[in-house]
Amino acid sequence: MKRLVHPRRFVQFYLVLVTCAVILLLANYAAWCPEEEEIKAGQDLLETYRERIREADVTINQLNAKLRARPSLESIHKHQNEYIPGLPMIYLITPTHSRLEQKADLVRLSYTLLHVYNIHWIIIEDSDIKTPVVSNFLKTSGLNYTHRNVKTPPEVKLTDTDPNWLKPRGVLQRNAGLQWLRETALKKKLEPAVVYFADDDNTYSMQLFEEMRYTRKVSVWPVGLVGGLRYESPIVVRGTVTGWFTYWKPQRPFAMDMAGFAVNVRLLLQHPNAQFTNAVQRGYQESTLLSGLGVMLSDLEPKANGCSKILVWHTRTEKTKLKNEDKMKQKLGRGSDLNMEV
Ligand code: UGA
Ligand code: MN
Repeated sequence: MKRLVHPRRFVQFYLVLVTCAVILLLANYAAWCPEEEEIKAGQDLLETYRERIREADVTINQLNAKLRARPSLESIHKHQNEYIPGLPMIYLITPTHSRLEQKADLVRLSYTLLHVYNIHWIIIEDSDIKTPVVSNFLKTSGLNYTHRNVKTPPEVKLTDTDPNWLKPRGVLQRNAGLQWLRETALKKKLEPAVVYFADDDNTYSMQLFEEMRYTRKVSVWPVGLVGGLRYESPIVVRGTVTGWFTYWKPQRPFAMDMAGFAVNVRLLLQHPNAQFTNAVQRGYQESTLLSGLGVMLSDLEPKANGCSKILVWHTRTEKTKLKNEDKMKQKLGRGSDLNMEV
C-alpha cells in the first residue's frame, strides 16, 4: 500500500515549519516588547505619582507642625487677661532701673509671667519719670500691670563705680509697690492673694508661682546661685523650718534672699506699717519686712517639695561693654543709632 506521506518527508516538513516559526518569532520579538515611548510614558506616570506623594508628605508635615504649634502671642495675651475665679491672685512687685540690659531682662521675665494665670505685675521704676522704654514695653507685654515710679535719693543710690553690694537696691520701689497693694486691697473686697518680690534679672520657674499661690501666711523655698553658694535654703525638719542653710550672715532672723519667700496679702493689711528700709545693714531687708509682719520661724510654710527643689535662680545679667562704640566713632565718625531702642 502506498503511503500518503513518507515519514522522512514529514520530519523534513516539520523541521522547516519549526525553523520558520522560530525565524518569525525572532523577527517579531521587537514588536512584543514595549516601545521606548511606552516605557517613557510609564516612567513619567511613576514620577508624577512620586511627586504627588512628596507633596502629600509636605502637607502632612505642615499640618503636623500646625497641630503642635505653640499658641500665637495674641492668644497668650488673651488668656492672660482672663481672670480665673477662685484661683488666688499673685501680685508681683518688681523694682526696675534704667540700664543697657533693662529691656532684655524685662522681656525675658515677661515671657515667664505670660504663662502664669491670675497674676498682676506691679512694676516700679527707680526713676523721676515713667520712661518710654518701660511704658512701651508694658503696653505691648500682654500682662496685667500697674506701672509706678519713685527715684532712689542720690545719698542711697549706687553709682556706676560702686561695687553692687554697697547700697541696698529697690527699697523705695518695693515700698511703693506695697503701698499700692495695700490701698488697692483695701478698696476692693480682698480676694485671697499673695505678694512676691521678683527682681527683674532673676530666673523663675513657672512652677514657683503655683507653689506660692496658696500661701497661708509666708511660704519659703530655696534660691539657686546665691550667697556665694550653689544655693541657699531654709532648713526643714519634719515639715517645719528650723533655720537657714547659708554661709553669709547666718545669724539674720530670716537669712534668705528676696526671691525666697511670698507673703499672704492679708498679713500686709494686718500690719499696715511693715515695709523695707534703707536704714538697715546689708542683708537685713528680708528680715526687716518679715519681722515687721510679726512672722515667726514656725509660721513659715516650706514649699518646693519640702525645700528640696530649686525653682528660682538669682541670675545676674552681665554688664555690656560698649568698647567698640567709641572706636567706631573715631574711625567712621559715628557709632550706633541712638534712636534705636535696645
Ligand atoms: C540682691 C538681692 O537679690 C536683691 O533682692 C536685693 O535688693 C539686692 O541684692 C540688694 O542688696 O539690695 P542683686 O542681684 O545684687 O540682688 O541686685 P539687683 O538685681 O541689681 O537689684 C535688685 C532689684 O532692684 C532689681 O530688680 C533692680 O532692677 C532694682 N534696682 C537696682 C533698682 O531699682 N535701682 C537700682 O539702683 C538698682
Ligand atoms: Mn539681681
